[in-house]
Amino acid sequence: MLLESRVAIITGGAVGIGRGIALKFAEEGCSVVIADIAAIEGKKTAEEVSKKGGEGIFVSCDVTVGRQVQDMVGKAISKFGKIDILVNNAGGVSGPEGSLDDVNEEQWDKSLNLNLKSAFLCCKAVVPHMKKNKYGKIINISSLGAVHPAVSVVHYHAAKAGVLGLTYNLAFELAPFNISVNAILPGPIRTPFWEPVTRDIPDKDAYFAEIAKKEVPMQRIGTPEDIAGAALFLASELSAFVSGETINVAGGLPQLPHSATITG
Ligand SMILES: NC(=O)c1ccc[n+]([C@@H]2O[C@H](COP(=O)([O-])OP(=O)(O)OC[C@H]3O[C@@H](n4cnc5c(N)ncnc54)[C@H](O)[C@@H]3O)[C@@H](O)[C@H]2O)c1
Repeated sequence: MLLESRVAIITGGAVGIGRGIALKFAEEGCSVVIADIAAIEGKKTAEEVSKKGGEGIFVSCDVTVGRQVQDMVGKAISKFGKIDILVNNAGGVSGPEGSLDDVNEEQWDKSLNLNLKSAFLCCKAVVPHMKKNKYGKIINISSLGAVHPAVSVVHYHAAKAGVLGLTYNLAFELAPFNISVNAILPGPIRTPFWEPVTRDIPDKDAYFAEIAKKEVPMQRIGTPEDIAGAALFLASELSAFVSGETINVAGGLPQLPHSATITG
């Protein structure tokens, strides 16, 4: 198994991509701390982790609040004695509007806190424990929209681009401590993330099929398992000499889809 005896914290691990990563890691022998604000789903995912082989625990934590992050990491250390892997996955967009005209100062701050400050806070709390062990794998979940936006979601894409800056800087700073820092840039992945935009759409399958046809060269929407595969590579010794890297997991995006017609 690729993660035998390892311990991971996965923020936003209750549902969606975080849950997919948690289950994949568990299959490889990893114990997982699900750090999330969604208690019911988080506890359920932690139980699923335990059934798969690793030990799963849920810790309630709003990752935008430094004190809560410190407490969550303290609980992880009390339980497992170390943290080998940190996946900064919690994130999202609060609504469908995202142009410069739409987004106000409050929404900007909220998005930066959830998608960027959270990763900084978790790194700050976890890295001292990794340094002590001279071992660590940090995986930051950014977005393909940070570098190739398909629509304007200015506060979210700017925050996700900030996650790449954090990744490059910390990769450089932490390499001497044998701590690697990499980022995954997901394309469209079908999870509860899409609820704010699909809430009023009756045929959601048709909606996602249309996006896949129009935008994704592989002609399908991604799944949490698609992201989990790349995360497993970055969390395991398969990536022992890889740091400061970004991996698009986006079905061939940002290439043109096969259905696209180039004119002019
Ligand atoms: N789904 C996509 O198409 C897509 C594409 C690109 C990037 N991403 C990124 O991938 C990551 C995971 O996305 P997802 O699709 O699984 O989203 P999701 O909305 O399905 O799940 C997000 C999880 O984060 C948790 N969360 C939200 N706010 C939190 C907070 N303040 N503290 C702790 N936990 C919190 C939620 O409870 C939930 O469990 C996010 O960072 C997202 O921005 C997703």
